[in-house]
Amino acid sequence: MKLHEALNIDLNEINREIENFVTRDKDVPKKSQLAQSVLELVASGGKRLRPLMVIVGSRFGRKPSGRRALQLSAAAEFIHAASLIHDDIIDDAELRRGGPALHTKTGILSAVHIGNYMSARVIELLSKHTGDKNRYVHDLSSVATAQLCLGEYQQMEHAYDYDITMEQYLEKSRNKTALLMATCLRVGALSSESTEEVANLLYTFGEALGMSFQIQDDLLDFTQSTEILGKPAGSDLRHGQVTLPVLYALQDSELAADIRKIGSDSSDAEVMHVLSLINRSDALARAEEISQDYLEQAAGIVEQLSAYPAHTDLETLLQYFAGRDR
Ligand code: FPP
Ligand code: MG
Repeated sequence: MKLHEALNIDLNEINREIENFVTRDKDVPKKSQLAQSVLELVASGGKRLRPLMVIVGSRFGRKPSGRRALQLSAAAEFIHAASLIHDDIIDDAELRRGGPALHTKTGILSAVHIGNYMSARVIELLSKHTGDKNRYVHDLSSVATAQLCLGEYQQMEHAYDYDITMEQYLEKSRNKTALLMATCLRVGALSSESTEEVANLLYTFGEALGMSFQIQDDLLDFTQSTEILGKPAGSDLRHGQVTLPVLYALQDSELAADIRKIGSDSSDAEVMHVLSLINRSDALARAEEISQDYLEQAAGIVEQLSAYPAHTDLETLLQYFAGRDR
């Protein structure tokens, strides 16, 4: 069963709302490259994890939030999709969701502007929710987006930095991945007038899930084939990303000497050699353990929310993240 089915969420409704973000913009002609590119991007699939998290969050409130949660869920996907457009340019990635990345079709300049438009359109739409009671909306449209950009900046700053600390790695992962997921659950909850306490618990739950998600993503670079990943295996290592498995492998002095030799001019053979050395070490198992620790933290929060019927949806999310295959 697909995740949205297990959560009893109508994905078509969410997809329509995401499309509305651009089709209802009267300043953007329907046949323009901008509108068509955004619509193609929406149609290219994706699991819609973040929108689903907003809707799940909204089930913890005291009032049904209806359209508001739907709009916030579309906003979350818009921010995420915009960040992936930019990410693929930064990573020089040609594939996304099994098809060509946007910048390979439109050129880099257009793709940058399309990403900027999407990010700004979210702010435009959500800024209509004014007043103190609705301030949480801006946690999604501005705070979470700023955190994403900061995380990406921190990642770039530490490329080929084999002295990056565990704290720096965790902070980068939190900013880049976990806090958007945390915010999705929190704003969903507040849109249906949950208590602050519940919204904050859901935030911590989403943060833990997001950390586990990022570590699993780091592991996939070592364990999956190019075909499954939709990008070359070992691509993080090649681009100098010191992910959690690499951090653990660096603790072994022999392995560290080989890893530290990888630079931007390394050959494919050198990268593949180090990839197989790390694969044979205990680094992957140790990273997996940390990912499991985060899932356990998340499970602890589900227990604290067990009085709410929607806690079973958190269990569904948890199971999905525990067995996630991309
Ligand atoms: C995927 O990383 C990328 C992110 C989680 C965030 C990227 C954020 C930006 C580029 C900042 C720009 C943001 C906006 C809103 C315009 P990955 O390369 O590890 O994952 P992948 O394998 O899916 O590419
Ligand atoms: Mg990338």
